Amino acid sequence: MALHKLKKEETLAMRKRLIGQSCRLFYSDDPIKIVRARGQYLFDENDKRYLDCISNVHHVGHCHPSITKVAAAQMELLNTNARFLHDNIVVYADRLAATLPDKLCVFYFVNSGSEANDLALRLARQYTQHEDVIVLDHAYHGHLTSLIDISPYKFRKLTGQKEWVHVAPLPDVYRGVYREDHPDPGQAYADTVKDLIEEVHRKGRKISAFFAESLPSVGGQIILPERYSPKVAEYVHSAGGVFVADEVQTGFGRVGGHFWGFQLQGEDFCPDIVTMGKPMGNGHPLACVATTVEIAGAFTANAVEYFNTFGGNPVSCAIGLAVLDVIETEDLRGNSMRVGAHLKDLLTKLQKQHQVIGDVRGVGLFVGVELVTDREKRTPATKTAAQVVKRLKEEDQICVSTDGPWDNVLKFKPPMCFSIENAELVVQCIDRILTDMAANDLKLDKEDI
Ligand SMILES: Cc1ncc(COP(=O)(O)O)c(C=O)c1O
Repeated sequence: MALHKLKKEETLAMRKRLIGQSCRLFYSDDPIKIVRARGQYLFDENDKRYLDCISNVHHVGHCHPSITKVAAAQMELLNTNARFLHDNIVVYADRLAATLPDKLCVFYFVNSGSEANDLALRLARQYTQHEDVIVLDHAYHGHLTSLIDISPYKFRKLTGQKEWVHVAPLPDVYRGVYREDHPDPGQAYADTVKDLIEEVHRKGRKISAFFAESLPSVGGQIILPERYSPKVAEYVHSAGGVFVADEVQTGFGRVGGHFWGFQLQGEDFCPDIVTMGKPMGNGHPLACVATTVEIAGAFTANAVEYFNTFGGNPVSCAIGLAVLDVIETEDLRGNSMRVGAHLKDLLTKLQKQHQVIGDVRGVGLFVGVELVTDREKRTPATKTAAQVVKRLKEEDQICVSTDGPWDNVLKFKPPMCFSIENAELVVQCIDRILTDMAANDLKLDKEDI
């Protein structure tokens, strides 16, 4: 039975009854029921087309025919767990190794970004024999208990901060403690980590790992200042810890000029562990941890087998290989650079016309537009951002969402086949909505000022 034969109201009622209500829907007041998708487009049950500006999971485009073909063929032939010798896992690991610095040459395949980060935590602790972790403020690293503990975005609303977790300021040069007028924000923010390490040592504790997204996304589409990560890595290493780059959102060429987000921090910067997920399988649950021979060796030395039933199975790895092929054959990194630059350029021009646009930032197809009620005070325009998202969906069938601690940053992380025309359409629509809101004096965030 095709599930979309249910009427939308029936699906909604069943969902309310059967699915845990903490699993929220996009546009919860009036959800969209998507029944098929292609490229950067989603289609509802009436075949109405929506432009997807947010799914960084369907990296090379929704339901890409090359991927579905490979997946079906491998599913028909064989799918086992990774305890049998098979070509796909090793060929895929080899292809991934070619995208990474030589040092990152041992791979563990898992099924989600959360599993990857949890394993990274285990690897770091086993290798360093230390317990404590430093994370960036507002970070999110996954939904497992261990990761809620290292995700200020979640633990602040739940059990609070564990004694082994230490929160460093988010290196946000628009809104953070050191801003764009600082002569060297990268160094200044790195020094906050150094101070934190000293504080941890004074408490008699030891750092196992520093975890950070290469471009903090939940934190508000943040671009780390130059030289931040190499400096932090230096401090973390001298404390005996390791640097974990969470590339779950940012890997696989999203930033265009580089395959990995961490490479924006310079050719000679190399994390000790890289975790990857979302875009890897183009929607198929596939994730991975890449690390060094030394760290992997320490993990092996505890003589406990690491077994993951689905991780690295032949179907997942065939899909992963097909995703890498499509990124190359369709020059999606080049597309990300060209379209991302055009999008940023158009949004920057829009900023000149609309006072509410406080900042436009991004690299490749990872772009954020921060809305503020007051450019001087940088007061978050949260309600305005929510209204823009709602109207884009209702009036233009464009799916955009918000991020950042105040949910006032419009985020763009579309499938990498996003086109110049798509970018132009989105910016025109945002312009129209903001112009209309200004003309009608819809100062939604008035009371927040
Ligand atoms: C940066 C980051 N790390 C880890 C995760 C967890 O990944 P998953 O939802 O696949 O478990 C997410 C998910 O949103 C994420 O954004």
